[in-house]
Amino acid sequence: MNHITNPLPDKFRAIVTTEGEDGVFRSNISLRKLSDLPQHAVLIRVLFSGLNYKDALSATGHKGITRKYPHTPGIDAAGLVVKSETSDFKPGDEVIVTGYDLGMNTSGGLAEYICVPAAWIVKRPGNLTLEESMIIGTSGFTAASAVYEIYKHGINPEDGNILVSGATGAVGSAAVVMLAQAGYKVIASSGKPEEYNFLKSIGASEVIERDTLNDQSGRGLLPARWVAALDTVGGNTLSTILLSTKERGLVANCGMIASDKLQVPVFPFIIRGVRLIGIASADTPMPRRLEIWKLISEIIKPEKISLLKTTISLEEVPEALHRMKNAATKGKMLVKISN
Ligand SMILES: NC(=O)c1ccc[n+]([C@@H]2O[C@H](COP(=O)([O-])OP(=O)(O)OC[C@H]3O[C@@H](n4cnc5c(N)ncnc54)[C@H](OP(=O)(O)O)[C@@H]3O)[C@@H](O)[C@H]2O)c1
Repeated sequence: MNHITNPLPDKFRAIVTTEGEDGVFRSNISLRKLSDLPQHAVLIRVLFSGLNYKDALSATGHKGITRKYPHTPGIDAAGLVVKSETSDFKPGDEVIVTGYDLGMNTSGGLAEYICVPAAWIVKRPGNLTLEESMIIGTSGFTAASAVYEIYKHGINPEDGNILVSGATGAVGSAAVVMLAQAGYKVIASSGKPEEYNFLKSIGASEVIERDTLNDQSGRGLLPARWVAALDTVGGNTLSTILLSTKERGLVANCGMIASDKLQVPVFPFIIRGVRLIGIASADTPMPRRLEIWKLISEIIKPEKISLLKTTISLEEVPEALHRMKNAATKGKMLVKISN
């Protein structure tokens, strides 16, 4: 089956990252042809995207993310199907794509069009609008994956506090909102004292200074302060978090903003039975992906989602990606692409 709507444009606007002869990667808006896109089953007109740390890495030439340039980054996109070679989707369907290979080695969502395999597409989840689904995007989905693990392991609000590190970031702030909405007391760790009020406004019960998660005592265990944590930072922050987790607690790590190394005594595991869980959201299998989107749409209130967003245009993306690489952003940068 091949559905086509209105005449398609010859060219469309997209962020394109190129490698200069000086070895520096630069991102600008360019016009691209639809025929430049990979030939997959579903063509989507993108209405919203959002920035993720991976986009900042892709836009600065991180070859572990993107191998070939010129390239259009953007691991998230939400929009309308305009052409479909499968009966699973028809023109006009409101859909989102987060993760898989989008924006990595497949032309990404920071563009007016994407063309992707049907297996990557999720119909607009529950009661979320397309805009809200992109305020959440991969970062919020990652945060929700941690909430899902906390639920699955039977950790309830009365069992203790939950720590979130890198709390003003896109993943951290979404985690603070969702955990608070789910009834947990959240301790937010942040290196931005000027944003403590923001963190409280989105649901943090307590905010602690980032440096307090950098234990240098050499001890095998520290006083237990939380029953679960989502760590976006890695390195000695993750180690300190593990050492400070209560018996039978759970620590989910998704990131490595400070370091991709982990050196930690085994005592949290063999004495307190602490569980360390990895979160890898990009390739989440579809059945679990749908469960997590359902969880998101059940626990998060729209008025709380909107507190996380700063809306920018495609023109503002290059500068915003630069700020994101330097971890100088707060909450989620929503990119409004077309009407
Ligand atoms: N595994 C997955 O599936 C997955 C999915 C999405 C993202 N991630 C990863 O998760 C991490 C966070 O992503 P994000 O989108 O939230 O990034 P982000 O929006 O840039 O936020 C990162 C936050 O980390 C904190 N931070 C910055 N520098 C730090 C340092 N040197 N030490 C400690 N904390 C620091 C800052 O928050 P404060 O100032 O509040 O401390 C910053 O806002 C990244 O490593 C990203 O690659 C993984």
